[in-house]
Amino acid sequence: MKILSVVGARPQFIKAAAVSRALRASPGVREVLVHTGQHYDDNMSQVFFEELEIPEPDYHLGIGGGTHGQNTGRMLEAIEGVLLKEKPDWVLVYGDTDSTLAGALAAVKLHIPVAHVEAGLRSFNRRMPEEINRILTDHASDLLFAPTETAVQNLLREGILENRIHLVGDVMYDAALHYGVKAERKSRILERLGLQAKGYVLATIHRAENTDDRERLRVILEALAEVHREVPVVFPVHPRTRKRAEIFGFEGYLEKVLATEPVGYLDMVMLEKNARIIATDSGGVQKEAYFYRVPCVTLRAETEWVELVELGWNQLISPLDAHTIAQTVLHCAHMIGEETDLYGSGQAVQRIVNVLRGSR
Ligand code: UD1
Ligand code: UDP
Repeated sequence: MKILSVVGARPQFIKAAAVSRALRASPGVREVLVHTGQHYDDNMSQVFFEELEIPEPDYHLGIGGGTHGQNTGRMLEAIEGVLLKEKPDWVLVYGDTDSTLAGALAAVKLHIPVAHVEAGLRSFNRRMPEEINRILTDHASDLLFAPTETAVQNLLREGILENRIHLVGDVMYDAALHYGVKAERKSRILERLGLQAKGYVLATIHRAENTDDRERLRVILEALAEVHREVPVVFPVHPRTRKRAEIFGFEGYLEKVLATEPVGYLDMVMLEKNARIIATDSGGVQKEAYFYRVPCVTLRAETEWVELVELGWNQLISPLDAHTIAQTVLHCAHMIGEETDLYGSGQAVQRIVNVLRGSR
């Protein structure tokens, strides 16, 4: 059985690392890995392949840095070419990026079945590029691997047939369990940055809605600078955010916190585990905050991972006013929610592989 996986962006490398390992250990399964090139800086791509021991991609399409239409369109054409040549039994796509949509669309048009990992997430905000990518990918998919019961319900409400949906748990939790041990052994990031455990706030920001609006980005950066005056803020800056900060003339704000380049996954895990508080707009980081039981403030009006808000681990704040954000972040250090096993027990990857193998 030949499975062709399409990845391109940072969180997809992490998810695919876990799935790919299990696929390749599975008798009779051959994986062909396609990297679209959506993320291309070494610290957004290569570092993950090295640290997480992901096999070299069989195809690297080198498509990134364009607009949504340019990226998706060019990827669609290039992936179609690969599919015609490889003729896989399944195409596996992850999450909600432009690479996800291009992979799903190229496959479904060639009548190659599509499996979607992290299906069924919804923010109900159609202005998010990710929301459109998710909806279209889910509706193009033959197998939908949902991480949570909420995701299952979202899919059923949209009329997707129940027998296509599999509640498997969250592959990011599997990755956290597997690589968490390695991170403890290998990462020296706390020493390198001179950080004390539970003595800093970890921040990440990259959503288009937060970076592309000048005033919104200013408010967020000002809030982080205000927090930093009381507790050090470690801020690995996504390239999108750095570029917008430069365009808007906000470099000065980055000097008011401990801004770094994006870090590798093992360093990120250590930064997360030891943070007092996490402030983020990332989907993956919200969940990882919970995996390590660190209180999280999400700088968005809504989230796809609603359970963490309901259970008291995560607090949403619409990034409109710097002082309110800063005070919310500073005051959530003791926020403790209810325990849950809603992301599974580290078996998501194996369940995905079993379903795929059973689908022959
Ligand atoms: C993408 C995903 C988003 C995901 C995020 C993970 C889409 C629509 N968005 O957002 O869902 O949460 O990845 O990080 O697919 N850039 C670089 N170097 C890189 C990568 C990006 O300089 O290695 C810069 C380029 O200017 C690029 C911009 O960042 O144009 C945006 O990159 P893009 O991949 O389009 O979107 P992200 O914001 O990274
Ligand atoms: N991450 C990382 N280094 C960083 C920032 C994030 O390794 O500097 C990891 C993080 O631990 C999580 C994933 O990248 O596993 C989340 O990706 P991102 O925030 O880019 O995207 P999202 O999850 O919002 O789609």
